[in-house]
Amino acid sequence: MMDDVDRIMAVMAAAFDPHYGEAWSRRQIEDALTLGNCHYLLIDAAEGPAGFALSRTGFEEEELLLLAVRPEFRGRGLGRSLLDHLEQAARKRGARRILLEMRRGNPAERLYSTFGFLKIGERKDYYRLSDGSRVDAITFAAALSPATPAG
Ligand SMILES: CC(C)(COP(=O)(O)OP(=O)(O)OC[C@H]1O[C@@H](n2cnc3c(N)ncnc32)[C@H](O)[C@@H]1OP(=O)(O)O)[C@@H](O)C(=O)NCCC(=O)NCCS
Repeated sequence: MMDDVDRIMAVMAAAFDPHYGEAWSRRQIEDALTLGNCHYLLIDAAEGPAGFALSRTGFEEEELLLLAVRPEFRGRGLGRSLLDHLEQAARKRGARRILLEMRRGNPAERLYSTFGFLKIGERKDYYRLSDGSRVDAITFAAALSPATPAG
């Protein structure tokens, strides 16, 4: 039977273009989840796992480490829904903002900017691609309003 790490890895294998080297190994995912400060969200479709988000909780902030939707499920709002749920969960954990880092030119930027992320920094030539070329990393942040008491 598929466990959640299998589900995450199934989406990972389908969603990330190997050219960019962004996908994590199973070991990296297992290590992140063993540490206890990382959290994941998974969306299951009838056909199988469709998308996930992995984040790390820090002091008053949450870092989005991975966000992925299988190509055949894209453009239906699943990415946005994962960000919505992450925002709610992070707020409950006390986060005041969400951070993420993305390679320059990733089409996901459109999703992030409509979601309210603003560019706060960049690291020149941070990522190395499969052909040896380098791409800048761009850091984005989105402010979160404080959690409202449940009721
Ligand atoms: C980024 C990613 C998670 C977005 O997932 P998604 O489920 O398609 O996202 P949504 O459906 O919520 O769409 C987000 C926006 O992009 C547009 N969009 C994204 N993919 C689309 C597609 N295939 N067809 C049409 N529109 C698309 C949507 O119109 C939407 O914009 P809008 O709300 O302003 O109209 C997905 O493209 C992905 O897995 N990419 C590869 C992995 C990656 O690079 N992740 C981010 C870095 S870790």
